[in-house]
Amino acid sequence: MFKHESIETNSAMLIVLTLVAISIGGLVEIVPLHYINETVEEVKDPVTGVEMVRPYTPLEQRGRDIYIREGCYTCHSQMIRPFRDEDLRYGHYSLAAESKFDHPFQWGSKRTGPDLARVGGKYSNEWHVQHLKAPRSVVPESIMPNYPWLTQTELQYADIQDRMIALKRVGVPYSLTTVEYEANVKRFGEDVAKTLDINTAENNLLAQAQKGNYDGNAGGVSEMDALVAYLQVLGTMVDFKKFDEDHFIQFR
Ligand code: HEC
Repeated sequence: MFKHESIETNSAMLIVLTLVAISIGGLVEIVPLHYINETVEEVKDPVTGVEMVRPYTPLEQRGRDIYIREGCYTCHSQMIRPFRDEDLRYGHYSLAAESKFDHPFQWGSKRTGPDLARVGGKYSNEWHVQHLKAPRSVVPESIMPNYPWLTQTELQYADIQDRMIALKRVGVPYSLTTVEYEANVKRFGEDVAKTLDINTAENNLLAQAQKGNYDGNAGGVSEMDALVAYLQVLGTMVDFKKFDEDHFIQFR
């Protein structure tokens, strides 16, 4: 009875069976979403109990915007898979929690260049600036494009509060009210909570750029400052030394 011809020539049957097929596909995609809280592991400092993975500071967040604008993701993934070779090359495999504040996440699978999920702290700021301006001056065989305008372009940050409010709407815990701020103090500790406050975002951005001086030029805030601040935080939030080696295996 279920010969292809009999289905294809009977439109009512075709509709019913199409719907059945689509609902199975739908269930497979939708049901796991209801368990998302168990899928994304909690990563808390074993001693202080504060969450280790935090949202980006305003400066890092602007750097991330530039990363997306420049299309860095077309050559770089940000997801270390739980395989021996990746672990040896890039470090501990990525945890779901490590990109839970990324909207949209930058996992990707296209690796013309290396994975960047744990590039933070691997090189100095100077290296990044030189490498972004002229990759072949530090890695002669590189095929990465030059991004010389990043040092010359002033960072636009007048709309930083709006950007953070937009991210807050999709679930990133930036704070607007005192109650939200206090909740962040409990969750991430006071130093981090301060950087997540939307009301003081502009000052925080300027202070971090001044203190970090990521582009090596003390005056002004360039797009390079923001991008390097972002690259330097990638994959550094979770201190894996604080956990047993097999702690995260259950989530793999
Ligand atoms: C056309 C592909 C391509 C694009 C686009 C690209 N890269 Fe790369 N990138 C590479 C390649 C290939 C390498 C490896 C050689 C090298 O180090 O230059 C690399 C290396 C890197 C490294 C060093 C990684 C490591 O662990 O050694 C960083 C950091 C980096 N890229 C950042 C960026 C950023 C930020 C952007 C966007 C502004 C970008 N890349 C855009 C291809 C690309």
